[in-house]
Amino acid sequence: MTKKYDVCVIGLGPVGAVSGLCFAKQGLRVIGVDIDQRRVDALNNGGAPFIEPGIEECSKSAREDGTFRATLAMEEAVQNAPVIMIAVGTPTPQNVPDLTQLDKVCAQIGIAISNKTTPTVIAVRSTVPPGTIRQRLTPIIEAVSGKRAGMDFHMVSNPEFLREGSAIHDFFHTSRVIVGADSDAAAECIESLYAGVEADEMLRVSIESAEFAKYVDNSWHALKVSFSNEIGRICQAAGGKIEETTRIFLADKRLNISECYLKPGFAFGGSCLPKDVRGLAYLAATKGVDTPVIDAILPSNEAHIALGVEAIREYYPTCVGLLGVAFKEHVDDLRESPSLIIANELIKCGIGVKACDPCYPPGQTLILPRSGKALELMSPEALETSCDVLVLMHRLPSHHTLAAQFSKTGRPVVDLTTLPKMPAPFKQAALQAG
Ligand SMILES: NC(=O)c1ccc[n+]([C@@H]2O[C@H](COP(=O)([O-])OP(=O)(O)OC[C@H]3O[C@@H](n4cnc5c(N)ncnc54)[C@H](O)[C@@H]3O)[C@@H](O)[C@H]2O)c1
Repeated sequence: MTKKYDVCVIGLGPVGAVSGLCFAKQGLRVIGVDIDQRRVDALNNGGAPFIEPGIEECSKSAREDGTFRATLAMEEAVQNAPVIMIAVGTPTPQNVPDLTQLDKVCAQIGIAISNKTTPTVIAVRSTVPPGTIRQRLTPIIEAVSGKRAGMDFHMVSNPEFLREGSAIHDFFHTSRVIVGADSDAAAECIESLYAGVEADEMLRVSIESAEFAKYVDNSWHALKVSFSNEIGRICQAAGGKIEETTRIFLADKRLNISECYLKPGFAFGGSCLPKDVRGLAYLAATKGVDTPVIDAILPSNEAHIALGVEAIREYYPTCVGLLGVAFKEHVDDLRESPSLIIANELIKCGIGVKACDPCYPPGQTLILPRSGKALELMSPEALETSCDVLVLMHRLPSHHTLAAQFSKTGRPVVDLTTLPKMPAPFKQAALQAG
């Protein structure tokens, strides 16, 4: 069969139409599919199916060059293109992602490729929860087509990061193109579509990581907007100057506007963060300002500490050794230290806890805040022999060496300098979303 098109884009909303027209602008032959006759007609007439700066020009030139055509006939389009890109909607009515548009399209793709003799690369551009492609869409296509994923067709995640209003500019000038694939050949096939795009980075990752990217980005953007607005509201109510507050905040490129504090790890503590978040929430409350985002910060941190406690309790320890008691390494400040909160919680459960910290002499006893119970401090060597689970709280080479020795004896080490391991049911729930 001769290939009539380079790419078939299914769904001609802002994502599909912009992607399709931008592929066409690079000289690729694109067929776009939609169930909406008006969108199909608008594009075939060299017009735009919705308002978006630059789209009419793209559509007009694609029509003149003959590089883009739109159709309602999915089967013919899928059969005549080696690459299928799905960009249908994934709304969240009742707060749950509705993936039924994707299900339908995949069933139709399954029918269309059942008699195809050449392999097809199917890229999902729609935003989906991680696990959707492997666990939900691939089985639909396999069942309907009778073909095997990884052999007859290849599934790829290729999320879209454009912003409506500057979508065409964003397509050609992006910080990253993300391709999640199991096969290098399938990933290369999708990457080749972006040859004319100025991307800072081309990231090839697992299908699930690529699927997750858009949720992470959009939630981060939403969080920034909500946080900034809450700060603005408090500032206004407290009689501050919002422009100055914003200028001061944005001037710090080391900690505020930077990669700092954005790598998942363990909970925060210390003398400043919890205290000042509490102070800000109190200020807002006294001014009658509603700040749900700021109010959620400390409960979120407590939930993270609770997860650390669960990660330790999973081993049913009789005595836990905590490597590090201060709120972070290289200091002796114990104020609101997550380590001490963990010690408290474990003791409450009837588990013995001992600890060591290079900033505190062995033999000393600390009185735990919240409970007033005693925590005995030891030397690293004594701790190693007296506990059955060791917990890393600080990033110190000497602690890691001790933990390596400890685990050689078959006893578990829980590393809370990184993200605590989630109990298995959490992971399943995340993948079954939708
Ligand atoms: N809009 C954005 O700025 C943006 C940016 C990045 C990612 N996304 C994601 O991309 C996806 C698409 O977004 P959108 O805003 O373009 O969606 P949209 O709902 O505006 O458009 C989807 C199009 O798919 C068509 N469609 C539905 N079922 C179909 C079928 N069976 N066959 C053919 N066409 C069908 C619809 O008629 C519609 O024209 C969503 O998952 C969205 O979350 C959107």
